Amino acid sequence: MSTETLHLDASDPADVERAATLLAAGKLVAIPTETVYGLAARVFAPDAVEEIFRVKGRPMDNPLIVHCATESDIELIATEIPPVAWRLLERFAPGPLTLVLHRHLRVPSIVSAGSPSVAVRIPALEVTRRLIALAGEPVVAPSANRSGRPSPTRAEHVFEDLGGSIAAVLDAGPCAIGIESTVLNLTVEPATIVRPGAIEAVDLAEILGYEPPIAHHSDTGAPIAPGMKYRHYAPRTPVFLTESLETIPTGALVLTTTSLESDRVRVRPLTRQTLYDEFRRADREHVPAIFVLITPDVRADRALMNRIEKAAVSSQRADDIPPMS
Ligand code: TXA
Ligand code: MG
Repeated sequence: MSTETLHLDASDPADVERAATLLAAGKLVAIPTETVYGLAARVFAPDAVEEIFRVKGRPMDNPLIVHCATESDIELIATEIPPVAWRLLERFAPGPLTLVLHRHLRVPSIVSAGSPSVAVRIPALEVTRRLIALAGEPVVAPSANRSGRPSPTRAEHVFEDLGGSIAAVLDAGPCAIGIESTVLNLTVEPATIVRPGAIEAVDLAEILGYEPPIAHHSDTGAPIAPGMKYRHYAPRTPVFLTESLETIPTGALVLTTTSLESDRVRVRPLTRQTLYDEFRRADREHVPAIFVLITPDVRADRALMNRIEKAAVSSQRADDIPPMS
């Protein structure tokens, strides 16, 4: 079924109201956040939530994040909320921190893919919180890409993947952060980062009293976070990690934080804000390969490294990955 997808302007209050009316009616609307664009539906409308899985092509066992306008909304969604959750929210919300808590029974189980836990966050953009409040209840919002594609950091990216399949996109321009929120599981001891993001483990340590460990695939390959087993963040163009420029084939795209000049390869800056945009540009322009130059500053940025590594392993067989020290 094809729908005309409205392009709404977040700086126009009438358009924000229009987006809220569509959400309230059970439609899917792509919403801006400080991290990436999300594909929103009312949390208490299980048919709309199911439609999200369908239009994204998302596996039904990968749970969604509930986006709340206020801290008191969180009490609608989660139960047995530990005091440390409120201290974390006081310090980091609104902002790019998602907390995994115990799910309240009133939340449809499809939201968290049947898990007894639920992920919640309060987005930083004021217009997004206003939209959620106008819609009348919190909204689920996975990143607004087709499953497996890079997350959208511009409204155009959402149209590229989902135009014709959703009711509207609320455009607030490019996302300020450009990679997804940090997901912290508070239902386990010690609290564990299930997805690194803009808020670092050292920042969380100020409140937790310890640096939360980052969950990794176990030796058996069993995923710790439900979303970790899926192909992620990957352009169609193969992504390679490299520490030296010499092996890079002519015509390839090189993403780097250092200044380089070459008439053999195309060099573009590597930042959190522009990584996904560059991935999508490479696809549109049919470059043969993307090489990401792994300098010490890139390696030190765990959230950025996480996205680059996932894109790389998603786009090639493990034995094609150039060896790295
Ligand atoms: O920045 C963000 O978090 C963006 C914007 C739109 O808010 N959203 C986002 O959603 O990245 P999504 O669905 O693309 O990623 C959600 C991640 C997945 O890795 C999922 O497995 C994890 O959060 N997650 C959700 N609920 C969970 C739960 N109950 N337990 C463990 N992990 C959960
Ligand atoms: Mg996603």
